[in-house]
Amino acid sequence: MKSHYETSAALLLLKCIILMAVDAVNPGCDCLVFSATYGKEYGVFSSQDYPKPYPSHVDCLLYTFVAHKDEIVEITFKDFDIYKSHLDCLKGDYLKVFLHLEKGEVNELSPWSRVLCGSLQDIPPVLYSSGPALILELHSQSNLNNATGFVGSFRFIDKRSFQTDGQRLAGTDCDYQLISNNLTRSRGRFFSPRYPSNYPQHIKCTYKLRARSRERVRVLFEEVMLEKGDVSCLNRADVIKVYDGRNNLAPTIAMLCNEVTEQEVLSTGSDMYIEFISNSDLPGQGFKALFQFQPVATLTTTSDRLHSIETEKSTLATGPVTHIKKMPDTGSPATTITNCDMVIYSDNSKNGTISSPGYPEPYPAHSYCRLDFQGRGKERVQIIFRDFDLFNPNDDAKECIDALLVYVQIDGRLERVDNHCGQTLPRPIMSNGPGLMLEFKGVYSSRNSRGYLAEYSFIENYGIHSGEQIANLPCAFTFNGTMQRSGVLYSPNFPGYYPRDTECHYFFQGINDDTIHIKFHHFDVEGVPPCEAISASDYVEFSNFMARDRRYERYCGQKEAFEIKSDRKFFRITFRSNDRLDGTGFNASYRFVRKMEQSVSSQPVAKANHSGTCDISPLLFIFS
Ligand SMILES: *[C@@H]1O[C@H](CO)[C@@H](O)[C@H](O)[C@H]1NC(C)=O
Ligand SMILES: *[C@@H]1O[C@H](CO)[C@@H](O)[C@H](O)[C@H]1NC(C)=O
Ligand SMILES: *[C@@H]1O[C@H](CO)[C@@H](O)[C@H](O)[C@H]1NC(C)=O
Ligand SMILES: *[C@@H]1O[C@H](CO)[C@@H](O)[C@H](O)[C@H]1NC(C)=O
Ligand SMILES: *[C@@H]1O[C@H](CO)[C@@H](O)[C@H](O)[C@H]1NC(C)=O
Ligand SMILES: *[C@@H]1O[C@H](CO)[C@@H](O)[C@H](O)[C@H]1NC(C)=O
Repeated sequence: MKSHYETSAALLLLKCIILMAVDAVNPGCDCLVFSATYGKEYGVFSSQDYPKPYPSHVDCLLYTFVAHKDEIVEITFKDFDIYKSHLDCLKGDYLKVFLHLEKGEVNELSPWSRVLCGSLQDIPPVLYSSGPALILELHSQSNLNNATGFVGSFRFIDKRSFQTDGQRLAGTDCDYQLISNNLTRSRGRFFSPRYPSNYPQHIKCTYKLRARSRERVRVLFEEVMLEKGDVSCLNRADVIKVYDGRNNLAPTIAMLCNEVTEQEVLSTGSDMYIEFISNSDLPGQGFKALFQFQPVATLTTTSDRLHSIETEKSTLATGPVTHIKKMPDTGSPATTITNCDMVIYSDNSKNGTISSPGYPEPYPAHSYCRLDFQGRGKERVQIIFRDFDLFNPNDDAKECIDALLVYVQIDGRLERVDNHCGQTLPRPIMSNGPGLMLEFKGVYSSRNSRGYLAEYSFIENYGIHSGEQIANLPCAFTFNGTMQRSGVLYSPNFPGYYPRDTECHYFFQGINDDTIHIKFHHFDVEGVPPCEAISASDYVEFSNFMARDRRYERYCGQKEAFEIKSDRKFFRITFRSNDRLDGTGFNASYRFVRKMEQSVSSQPVAKANHSGTCDISPLLFIFS
């Protein structure tokens, strides 16, 4: 530790005014330059006297990091304590950050990227430049609070590891074309502009991926860091939309916002089109993604497929990781039945029946089968059980030996989400992406145990059979008061557990002076009120607009029956789940009610005060 501070102390002695063109540097500034790590992977920097309080009345002190022209600068704060006297950090003590510089110079006119003050929790722990230089500009007034300043490490990274493997279209800033032919590689990477530094504000980038015939496009978003939070993608200024075709008229497979890791998307045909839009005031880091042109699948056994995933993993160091626990050895290999291993592709059949070996006869001892379901586009896999009867020697359900295990892809790993055994008919199961795997372990045999029978289907409607599905959001349904005045609605995969990382919208569009009344019968959405990101809650949100409506609180947890009413003829319900824990969701019935009808038949609904009314159907915005 001590030697680190000695290094940084030595660097502090450098004055950069001599090293740089004087006229380019704000003449009022002192400057410290860090341009080498002297053979070490990292260098260290800190505020003056750290960990003693930093000096007061620092007018302008520049910490300048200068890399080679093919490099970018990464700085990581280990400690940060700049006294926060103003919310926006623009007065008092603050650190101004310049991420996008061509040279290690700034003056009063240079655009800064952000200002930092407060503690380590208030700032991004890592900052990246987009060019070869990064500058921190420290200002302090009277440091009465003895704030200690900052300490961190820096390193220089080869910029070429963040290059998009595609062709930028002439005359555009960030529109790329990634085409499969016999001269290009069948896989590669693409990034948001300036990645891993923050992307610019107010940009729109497109990525057009085109495979050859009998190929499809697979994209894995390894890391997506846009605006932080858990707000619905409908109300986010920074979003990524993935379309299952050549342009943005094709159906939307996925819409990503906030922060997401390891999300996989697979095209139906040979084209995929991706839009990245940034309109927020606080751009995040952006995204990094892998693309791959895959031959339309032909592998038929699960072990072949797992093998191919393993191979792919080793050829692409940061590719998806598949961890499957090895089965405990439950018998001599000779008696293990493996011909029940199967990959089921939606290309071949959209639905069908699966069962334990020999069903409805008892399954043989030492049966061990894996069923791997592979959908595409926005398809999800749904399994609905018809019969379930596994051998269970003692009635203690926790000690299952014969069992049906369910795996889904979560954060790039196959994760076990369910373990069914005994004689209880499991609830329906739904995947959270294009794939799902079932593993059947029949260790014992008993002439009384029939095994299981189930129906599988690859569906695009999330198991929601009411309303009319909209193609340009992954999961959205409209309920048109002209067509149908009452009906039901429910969460994806109801009455089974809803899938993770899923956002579904229910839009109600009435006529004239309609309002919408919704009665919830069953409500089980994992979370703790007020259902915010901090408690990692899934939630249901209500709104009289497309935007968020502060009049309604978010709903989560388990609730008794309750009723919700709209103010006017448009209403939106949004369901959003995260990547943790699930519930069984909700079912509800809806009714379009005329104002006249309502004042006669029931007590008046509290009238909200909204400045201005908008007669244009909010749905027009979705369709445009
Ligand atoms: C800051 O340090 C000075 C000198 O040690 C001390 O007198 C003063 O009380 C400290 N201020 C705070 C807010 O802790
Ligand atoms: C690429 O494919 C085209 C048509 O399929 C063929 O004519 C050409 O020779 C191929 N080029 C290489 C380098 O294999
Ligand atoms: C599969 O879907 C078709 C068409 O929707 C239907 O007719 C058929 O009965 C389904 N088969 C099974 C096994 O569910
Ligand atoms: C509702 O249905 C009517 C009659 O078919 C149609 O004219 C109207 O455009 C629909 N509204 C919406 C929002 O889809
Ligand atoms: C709602 O779901 C509950 C629990 O699954 C069920 O008992 C009830 O019949 C359902 N009600 C409606 C109206 O669908
Ligand atoms: C509605 O809100 C506006 C602005 O907040 C206010 O001026 C007006 O008095 C309110 N009207 C009613 C009926 O509450």
